[in-house]
Amino acid sequence: MKRLGVIGCGGIADVVLTTLAKELPAPLDQLSLLVPAQFTAQAQALLDRVGSKLAQKCSVHTDIAGLLASKPDVVAECASHVAVRDYGETILKSGCDLVVISIGSLSDEGLYDRLVGAAKGGGARLVLPSGAIGGIDALVAARLSGLESVVYTGRKPPKAWKGTPAEKLLSLDALAEPAVFFEGSARKAASDYPFNANVAATLAIAGIGLDNTKVRLVADPSISRNVHEFAVSSACGDFTMKLEGRPSPANPKTSLMAGYSVARELINRASPMVI
Ligand SMILES: NC(=O)c1ccc[n+]([C@@H]2O[C@H](COP(=O)([O-])OP(=O)(O)OC[C@H]3O[C@@H](n4cnc5c(N)ncnc54)[C@H](O)[C@@H]3O)[C@@H](O)[C@H]2O)c1
Repeated sequence: MKRLGVIGCGGIADVVLTTLAKELPAPLDQLSLLVPAQFTAQAQALLDRVGSKLAQKCSVHTDIAGLLASKPDVVAECASHVAVRDYGETILKSGCDLVVISIGSLSDEGLYDRLVGAAKGGGARLVLPSGAIGGIDALVAARLSGLESVVYTGRKPPKAWKGTPAEKLLSLDALAEPAVFFEGSARKAASDYPFNANVAATLAIAGIGLDNTKVRLVADPSISRNVHEFAVSSACGDFTMKLEGRPSPANPKTSLMAGYSVARELINRASPMVI
């Protein structure tokens, strides 16, 4: 990886670029950011902070043609579901690998199929990092042996569920004990709670699909961080994974781990050893 494109300049892009500036074995030839026009000043400020340590040349673009004209080897989407929909196919069809962090967008199976088709057509790869959860390597390995069940529990402080249908099901401000307000398939969770669907979608794609992955969503007044937990039964063994994420200082709604998982993917691409 010599030429990197990044979509977005928010919490995740900040963690990714700050980490790459510290960890890449050698500076990139080119770093190109794609952001909406109203974010160009924020994107430039991010480049002013980390760009000179990261790449010989840096640029900010407001359209996909400009980003692709800078000839990235790989583009990391660190933006939004809309960005995946708007740019994903074009990037993959151009032959450029695409790392997607807004994985909840892929609960739309039409979009998922179009992106995989575009990757095949362009000779590129759609890459899904583990995001806010870990253990995806073990889940995929277990799938190869035969999965029996995958159950995900997403636990967040009550205020983190404001603005979702949970508000109508619970008195979020008055909760004294943890309350399970959703139990169902990852498909239903993605449709009812689309902006909390990243982890459930990642588990569904890695494991036994949207219909067979069971999801429980919990509002828990005793916690201050988001807690992601999943339990797997399979022919090669059973395991559970629990991750208590710390929020990103740049965007408290997002998990720091997700940005580091994108950084890991990109550092692997620039390193002689992959882990
Ligand atoms: N996979 C996971 O586990 C996981 C975890 C946390 C967040 N996420 C996802 O990562 C994404 C980014 O999160 P964040 O915390 O950095 O958000 P943020 O709000 O801090 O930043 C988003 C950035 O994307 C840019 N952006 C938004 N729409 C765009 C578009 N259409 N084209 C180009 N740029 C666009 C904005 O300008 C902003 O710079 C979100 O979609 C979020 O759901 C995934």
